[in-house]
Amino acid sequence: MGNKTRILVTGAGGFIGHHLVKRLKADGHWVRGVDIKMPEYEKSAADDFQQLDLRIWENCLEATQNIDQVYNLAADMGGIGYITAFLADISKNNILINAHMLEASKQNDVKRYLFSSSACVYAQSKQKSAEVTPLKEEDAYPADPEPGYGWEKLFAEELCRYYYHDYKFETRIVRFHNVYGPLGTYDGGKEKSPAAISRKVAKAHDGGEIEIWGDGDQTRSYMYVDDCVEGLIRLMASNHREALNLGTDEMVSINHLVDMICKIADKKLTKRHDMSKPQGVRGRNSDNTLLRKVLGWEPNMPLEKGLAITYKWISSELKKKKEVGELAEVAGD
Ligand SMILES: NC(=O)c1ccc[n+]([C@@H]2O[C@H](COP(=O)([O-])OP(=O)(O)OC[C@H]3O[C@@H](n4cnc5c(N)ncnc54)[C@H](O)[C@@H]3O)[C@@H](O)[C@H]2O)c1
Repeated sequence: MGNKTRILVTGAGGFIGHHLVKRLKADGHWVRGVDIKMPEYEKSAADDFQQLDLRIWENCLEATQNIDQVYNLAADMGGIGYITAFLADISKNNILINAHMLEASKQNDVKRYLFSSSACVYAQSKQKSAEVTPLKEEDAYPADPEPGYGWEKLFAEELCRYYYHDYKFETRIVRFHNVYGPLGTYDGGKEKSPAAISRKVAKAHDGGEIEIWGDGDQTRSYMYVDDCVEGLIRLMASNHREALNLGTDEMVSINHLVDMICKIADKKLTKRHDMSKPQGVRGRNSDNTLLRKVLGWEPNMPLEKGLAITYKWISSELKKKKEVGELAEVAGD
């Protein structure tokens, strides 16, 4: 162990946490991973992996023992279908994790603590057009976030600020805009749009149909997971205590995203739009002015390239399960 920085990654059994652990290990740090579940697709690179429920206070105290830095990524979360269906459970679970993790980190003398927030904190009234003005950090106020998940994230951001205000406890706050890449959830209801669409395209026969939630004109921007990890490490090292966007400003519609993935898969599919399904805000994009200034860098993986890597991984997973080539509609979402 020696003089190595001792880092805790919560949510290390999940998508971003798993990638972050790998990168921190490659950079030579000592890393503890904590999650309520083990990583699904490959073994964690962490020196020490503890399976703990971080809603429970004593578990947070145990997880943060002898730790210099905390990346708190653990959260009950999923795609738009999931976060609009479970308002009470998500809010309750996440407020317990975040309140306990912050206090336990302070009590155990952690030097720096990073909280992973979300673009879901942004005021819904500022995201009503597909041609949305990119969101600047101050657009989270006056508060009008996504019900449940977004309100909890916004309050947990505030809690970080209060811990600095009252105790000078060093906190960093990142607002992710959709993150995608290999080793992310791609089925079961918690997956996000690039993974869900990749799965549906992989499962469809060439010339078949693909179901899309809403009219597909809703817009988003997407960040590749390696860029996400790079941004996290840069933010932790910075002196910036206010919330910071971490995303790309390459905005695309869902229909365009589907076209890109069909092209990668070399399949021609007819889009069937299901207007009964949740589609979230109409448009969302990241204003990266502050990000560039604070981090001296911004995410740079081209969407088409990142999607090709992600699609290849998801279709190979489905091949292992022998699920490729069924009709897309069978997927049921
Ligand atoms: N992926 C994105 O596009 C995105 C966008 C905005 C914000 N975020 C935030 O980034 C963080 C990481 O997201 P992700 O995409 O890796 O999601 P993920 O669901 O893959 O990872 C979250 C992990 O937290 C764990 N967890 C949930 N409840 C727990 C508990 N009670 N105790 C311990 N662990 C628990 C889950 O088991 C999961 O492995 C989350 O805080 C999420 O809200 C992600």
